[in-house]
Amino acid sequence: MIKIAKKSDVKDKLCVKAKGKALALFKIKEKYYCTDNKCTHLGGPLCKGNIEDHTIVCPWHGAKFDVKTGKVKGLPAKADIKTYKVEIKGDDILVDL
Ligand code: FES
Repeated sequence: MIKIAKKSDVKDKLCVKAKGKALALFKIKEKYYCTDNKCTHLGGPLCKGNIEDHTIVCPWHGAKFDVKTGKVKGLPAKADIKTYKVEIKGDDILVDL
């Protein structure tokens, strides 16, 4: 597990880079979720997307992904995104990359 941010850095979403990967970090109902940042449609930045319940909406063409599982929930994306296990230690957010 590596530290990618502090809890106080995340209002509702944050773009993060760690170990050469671009990640999206989300805070939804006091829980944290981490996914790949790149939309599987044409690479839109999911860390800039809107959150609807537990769904991330890609800011480019509106594909939807389940923030917990990475599964596609709405076109035009067809492939799932990767999700990463998150652990909280004090104020630190750790992710299993
Ligand atoms: S790049 Fe995300 S929906 Fe097109």
